[in-house]
Amino acid sequence: MGRSEELFERAVKRIPGGVNSPVRAYGAIGMAPRFISRADGCHIYDVDGNSYVDYIDSWGPMILGHNHPEIREAVVKACADGLSFGCATEIEVEMAEFICEHLPHVEMVRMVNSGTEAVMSAIRAARGFTGRDKIIKFAGCYHGHSDALLVSAGSGVMTSGVPDSAGVPKGCTQDTMTAVYNDLDSVRALLEQAQGQVAAVIVEAVGANMGVVPPKKGFLEGLRSLCDQHGTLLIFDEVITGFRLAFGGAAEYFGVTPDMVTYGKIIGAGMPVGAYGGRREIMEMVSPAGPVYQAGTLSGNPIAMAAGLTQLKYLYEHQEVYKILEEKGQKLYGGMEEILKEARSEYHVNHVSSLGSLFFAKEEVVDYTSAKTSDTKAFADYFLAMLKQGIHLAPSQFEAMFLSTAHTDEVIEDTLSKVRNYFIK
Ligand SMILES: Cc1ncc(COP(=O)(O)O)c(C=O)c1O
Repeated sequence: MGRSEELFERAVKRIPGGVNSPVRAYGAIGMAPRFISRADGCHIYDVDGNSYVDYIDSWGPMILGHNHPEIREAVVKACADGLSFGCATEIEVEMAEFICEHLPHVEMVRMVNSGTEAVMSAIRAARGFTGRDKIIKFAGCYHGHSDALLVSAGSGVMTSGVPDSAGVPKGCTQDTMTAVYNDLDSVRALLEQAQGQVAAVIVEAVGANMGVVPPKKGFLEGLRSLCDQHGTLLIFDEVITGFRLAFGGAAEYFGVTPDMVTYGKIIGAGMPVGAYGGRREIMEMVSPAGPVYQAGTLSGNPIAMAAGLTQLKYLYEHQEVYKILEEKGQKLYGGMEEILKEARSEYHVNHVSSLGSLFFAKEEVVDYTSAKTSDTKAFADYFLAMLKQGIHLAPSQFEAMFLSTAHTDEVIEDTLSKVRNYFIK
């Protein structure tokens, strides 16, 4: 038994399922998760002394790779002044100014502590602003674990929300309507059915929680115009895409302007941070400027702000990073596509810039229903084979792969040779 197995045995006795977030468990794989001791660049090391090429990147924020020296130094420097004050600080103002000066669709922004909190608060602000209760989300899009958003779509379009989790009262999801990703007709139908009662449509501009599912041409533009027709706000959940696809996230990448955006881990460079922002008139509804209450003792924490602002400034000043990530994405995911073709495999790869997924599905994956046709047993087999060869993937078919600037061409080529070993025996 290795150290990871030992730690997992201890963990399950004291932590539900042995992990502090379900996605970390290797439930779909049937083994103990790797317990990680440190990470640097594109490598991650477990407590058993194994090293892996990491394609999780802390689920997105490590755009520049793990343990980036400038970010680490900013954190160490900030720590010398104290860890938390629960009072206003200069760096929060700098962070808000930096974001608003460089993102035209964000006129005001509020810091919170996680993506879940960002989305939950944005929805409350949207409801307060419009005076409407209903929201539309998409099947297969994840927006954190707040009650109203734990509806995926099992029951399909045109029905009221049915909670996905025990413990969520039906009353909390009755105003959550679920549409089909990449299907504007399903959104139109819900908006018409709700007759002027929809506060907001919230969408992951690139689906990244059912595996990577790019928006079809015209989908995001269509959402923009449907929202305009119905006086409904459009919220882009940019927890995964913000500052990753482009400095201005999916809004800039696809050229579609949302009314509000939500951010998460990336904005804190991996520290526990989230944020929501958007048009001034909406954000001025938020307490204490307006009547929509939202608060947080640790919000805008100085250490998290130091880490996040250092990464954001670096990204803004080095926008060549986005071209580099696009090229690395093409090399890795394009390479995987070639291997599948050569292997005459029916499986395929979806990708947008540095985000990608190899779907063990025989049909094209464009939404939640098609994502669910994936052969999760085949994925588990592939995952294990890759792990044994030193490649650290998310232990689920329905999570994205994340590239960073620290993944060198050599590392990507080596990964491709391992994918080749698996598919072309
Ligand atoms: C698109 C999206 N929104 C919201 C969240 C929730 O963020 P957090 O886990 O920080 O609460 C996630 C988590 O990965 C996410 O991918």
